[in-house]
Amino acid sequence: MSGSASSKKSCCSCSPLFSSSIGRKWIVALTGIVLVLFLIGHLLGNLSIFLGPDAMNAYAAFLKSTEELLWVVRIVLLTCVVLHIWFTITLWHENKRARPQKYAVKNELGTTVYARLMRISGLTVLAFVLYHLAQFTWQSFNPEYKTWVDAQGRHDVYRMVVTAFSCPFVSGFYLIAVGLLGMHLSHGIASLFQTLGLSNQKLRPVLERGGLILAWILFVGFASIPASVLLGLVKVTSGLPSCPVCH
Ligand code: HEM
Repeated sequence: MSGSASSKKSCCSCSPLFSSSIGRKWIVALTGIVLVLFLIGHLLGNLSIFLGPDAMNAYAAFLKSTEELLWVVRIVLLTCVVLHIWFTITLWHENKRARPQKYAVKNELGTTVYARLMRISGLTVLAFVLYHLAQFTWQSFNPEYKTWVDAQGRHDVYRMVVTAFSCPFVSGFYLIAVGLLGMHLSHGIASLFQTLGLSNQKLRPVLERGGLILAWILFVGFASIPASVLLGLVKVTSGLPSCPVCH
């Protein structure tokens, strides 16, 4: 998001937010903030797995009971994902067109490894989210998950997650994906403040460090779930879970 980009007339000339390159940067930053807030909320909810099946299933049942609100959140998230990706690609094309090749190479060498990997880490996170939705939200790979209910008749989300993560391939994939998510956020969060004009020479190292710490907290938090299942620290209370991939 940092770096120069030329202003460009677009089909969305009705709004300066869409038609100016600074407006597009703001959209990328604001949608990024919404997505980070979702991640913080999602992580806090998922950590209920460490409190046991009752806590996690109660949390999932509570979310399902707020059906209308859940759909509003889903639509906001989807809109943010689409806008975030679309305007990132638009800005990238603008920057590429505006910069001579030699200058672009020189600048890339001056940036961190996280900054250079923004596009690839972002696309991998997108692919991960699609896989994740198919696995846990639509339950397309293991339709039997839909029938799993606990003693209170609630969807047994705890058993579904523990069963899925009992497979080292699934857990391994999650660990890699949340690692790339952490890398994406390490640069992305600090970059947000710069775009929104909240950063200056003095604040920059503080915000960069803050972004790095938040990205690490999210990484460690999300990674702790598959890692704990693999290590046998979180398990199902009755019966051994059968691995959905290698059984
Ligand atoms: C590694 C730890 C994670 C666990 C255990 C986990 C667990 C879950 C579960 C169980 C659901 C389905 C909820 C339900 O329908 O009952 C879900 C939905 C979802 N997860 Fe995750 N998740 C994890 C990481 C992530 C990450 C890193 C992201 C984003 C990068 C993410 C994004 C989503 C989204 C967008 C949904 C759909 C929300 C909805 O429409 O209801 N999750 N997750």
